[in-house]
Amino acid sequence: MDELRARIKAVNLKHERPYIFVNTASSMDGKIALGDGKRLKISTIEDFKRVHRLRNEMDAILVGINTVIKDDPHLYVKTGFCPGPIRNPVRIVVDSNGKIPSESRILSGTTKTIIAVVKGNEENLERLKARETGNIIIKGVEANEEGKVDLHSLFLDLFSENINSILVEGGSTIISSLLRKGYIDTYSIFFRNFIVGGKQAPSIVGGQSAVAPVDLIHLRDPEIVIMEGGMLLSYHSLRQ
Ligand SMILES: NC(=O)c1ccc[n+]([C@@H]2O[C@H](COP(=O)([O-])OP(=O)(O)OC[C@H]3O[C@@H](n4cnc5c(N)ncnc54)[C@H](OP(=O)(O)O)[C@@H]3O)[C@@H](O)[C@H]2O)c1
Repeated sequence: MDELRARIKAVNLKHERPYIFVNTASSMDGKIALGDGKRLKISTIEDFKRVHRLRNEMDAILVGINTVIKDDPHLYVKTGFCPGPIRNPVRIVVDSNGKIPSESRILSGTTKTIIAVVKGNEENLERLKARETGNIIIKGVEANEEGKVDLHSLFLDLFSENINSILVEGGSTIISSLLRKGYIDTYSIFFRNFIVGGKQAPSIVGGQSAVAPVDLIHLRDPEIVIMEGGMLLSYHSLRQ
C-alpha cells in the first residue's frame, strides 16, 4: 500500500486532481455479471480481502447508477477483512437524472454518500431532501456532451473537498467512459477461473466498440499476480 500512497500523492501534487483507481472482478471471458445483468459473486475470499483493504486506503468509492439499481451494494469496508482502523470512504453514485431508488442500501448507514446529478436535476431527488442534512449529499455537476454527469468536473470538485483518491467499482458503462476519456490511473481486474459465455452478459468495458484500429485503447506494462481461484491483472500509470 505504500507504493499506492506514493502514486496517489504524486498525482495529487503534479496534476491537482484525485487518483482514479478502477477495480473490477471478471470471469475469464470478460463478463462481470450473469446473462440477465444480475449480480454474480466473482471474487474469492482472498480477492475480497484485497478489495476491502483497497477500499480502506481510498477517500471515496464510486459506482454508476445502474450498478446501484442492479446490485444494490453497501460499499462499506468489512471489518473482518481489514487489519487496523476502518476509514469507510465516502460513497459516490453517478446518477445524471437522480433516479436512485430511495430504499437503496448505499443510502443507509452513517457513511457519507454523494449523489452526483446533472445541474438542474437536483429537484428529482426532492424525496431525499429530508435526509440531506445527514449523510446524503446531492451534488449538481456540469453535463458532458451526452448530457450525463461530466466526470472531469466531478473529480475536480471532489478534489477541492479533499477527496484525493477514488476507487471506481463499475459498472461497465462508467468504466468505458473513464477509459475513453483517459481518466484512469490504475486499472485492475481480478479474473476468476470460470466462464460465463454468451453475448447478453455485460463485459468489463461497455459503451461503444472500437470500429477501427485507431479507436483501440492501448494498455502497457501489465502486472500479473496469481491468486486463489484466478489472477489479478493491473495496469498502473495509465494516465501520464
Ligand atoms: N463484477 C464487477 O466487478 C461489477 C461491479 C459493478 C457492477 N457490475 C455489473 O455491472 C452492471 C451495471 O453496469 P452498467 O454498465 O449497466 O451501468 P453503470 O456503469 O453502473 O452505470 C451507468 C450509468 O451511469 C450513469 N452515468 C452518469 N454519468 C455518466 C458518465 N459520464 N458516463 C457513463 N455513465 C454515466 C448513466 O445513467 P444516467 O444517464 O441515468 O445517469 C449510465 O447509464 C450490472 O450488471 C452489475 O452487476 C459488476
